Amino acid sequence: MATIADIFELMRKSPMNDWVGGSDPEAVGGASVQIVQRLTTIHNGASRVLDFGCGIGRGLVALRKMGVAPKEIVGMDIMPPVIDFCNQNIQPNIDNVKFELINDRNDHYDQFISSNNGKSRDELAEQYRSNFHVGYAFSVFTHVTKKDFGGLLKFISAMMAPGGRFVMTCFELNEFSRYMIDHGQSIFPLENRVMQEGGKVMIANDYDPLAFIAFDRELVAQMVSDAGMAITKVEYGCWMGGGIGSSLQDVFVCTKLPDLISRENIKMTALVDRSKMG
Ligand SMILES: C[S@@+](CC[C@H](N)C(=O)[O-])C[C@H]1O[C@@H](n2cnc3c(N)ncnc32)[C@H](O)[C@@H]1O
Repeated sequence: MATIADIFELMRKSPMNDWVGGSDPEAVGGASVQIVQRLTTIHNGASRVLDFGCGIGRGLVALRKMGVAPKEIVGMDIMPPVIDFCNQNIQPNIDNVKFELINDRNDHYDQFISSNNGKSRDELAEQYRSNFHVGYAFSVFTHVTKKDFGGLLKFISAMMAPGGRFVMTCFELNEFSRYMIDHGQSIFPLENRVMQEGGKVMIANDYDPLAFIAFDRELVAQMVSDAGMAITKVEYGCWMGGGIGSSLQDVFVCTKLPDLISRENIKMTALVDRSKMG
């Protein structure tokens, strides 16, 4: 039986670690799940967790290394070789973990997909409808088209339980990031950037458009809302320069709209009654 240390060692030796962004897999996974733990609550033995675009499982193995043991963790990805890696090296060694291959495409990753007999978005949405209390997607929405961004959010939202928290990273175009990019401050090389969709989408270069893609703040908010979720927290990353942010990418917490409770069950907070002040 492989230990968590063994699994990270296999990741280090695998060329697939570079497909999913490179660097030390244990450090990258650890940094990601620290964010998840800070921004969500995962109950051991009770929560069901989705790792969307899991790659070789750096995040979910790091989660277990931290002692987090939810009722279920499901990793989903579109690349058959990474799901094979996870099924061979992670699933037999870590409890309550399973992996799903999604039959989908992505121009940035299609070179690693020769054939795909995975499940469709619709099949998975049906299988996991309202299932997950916590979800996360690290460095996935930094590599998808605008059309996929909206479609994937709807797919994920269908699988989230009401009130569930979905943590995603992306690059947001806003007043600050636009200013910093225009003044050459970003820590990514963006000299050859191309603006699309009337300035609402930015790619770093046009030869591999999904290597780096950023989206306007209002566009992201609209797509999250169209998917039946709401942005309930944002932590900006340091990608645009200026030394702000604790992580590289911007981190969004999207909350699936909760089931409503009746008014009599709401604990009210009284307003200060100024008419009684002397
Ligand atoms: C940069 S890698 C990050 C992998 C992993 N989240 C990590 O942090 O190690 C992006 C991942 O998103 C996956 N991906 C891209 N498009 C996807 C889609 N439409 N549905 C699910 N996963 C997708 C890729 O196959 C790849 O594994």
